Amino acid sequence: MEISMKVNGIEKKSYTEPRMLLVHYLRDELDLTGTHIGCDTSQCGACTVYIDGKSVKSCTTLAVQADGTEVTTVEGLGDMEKLHAIQRGFWEEHGLQCGYCTPGVMMAMAALLKENPDPSESEIREGMKGAICRCTGYQFIVKAVQYAARSLAEENEKEKLVQSAGEGGAK
Ligand code: FES
Ligand code: FES
Repeated sequence: MEISMKVNGIEKKSYTEPRMLLVHYLRDELDLTGTHIGCDTSQCGACTVYIDGKSVKSCTTLAVQADGTEVTTVEGLGDMEKLHAIQRGFWEEHGLQCGYCTPGVMMAMAALLKENPDPSESEIREGMKGAICRCTGYQFIVKAVQYAARSLAEENEKEKLVQSAGEGGAK
């Protein structure tokens, strides 16, 4: 059947089998291979993407269920000119080893920071429950998320200053 969805801001339309999983659609049809498959029990979170801004496991979502929605994958989080704060955090704090879990963890942690911009260490660890990493022991992931939280707070602060300067100048 024909489905269409906006993926990372770009309209995509194609014919697909009704039984095709979203993760396979993204990887095999759209070549967005940043979304990984790490298990067959819906536990690891390596396949996490956003549908209309909400985190979902694309290994348990059919592509047809995303028809008419906006999907964001790890490729849409940021770009080389402007990485997302969570991507900078992983870079700066060495938040990965093999990197297999990393796209899913970054998606989960970016969603966490949207809901809770200043999470405690235990809130970060709690938020990571659906995102399993087999290599790092999580310590550097926690540091990466804390880096991203600081970085987002600084960005917000700068934006506020620019805004208030603009309003002051407009008087
Ligand atoms: S591949 Fe989706 S939860 Fe593991
Ligand atoms: S870095 Fe290897 S599974 Fe997380």
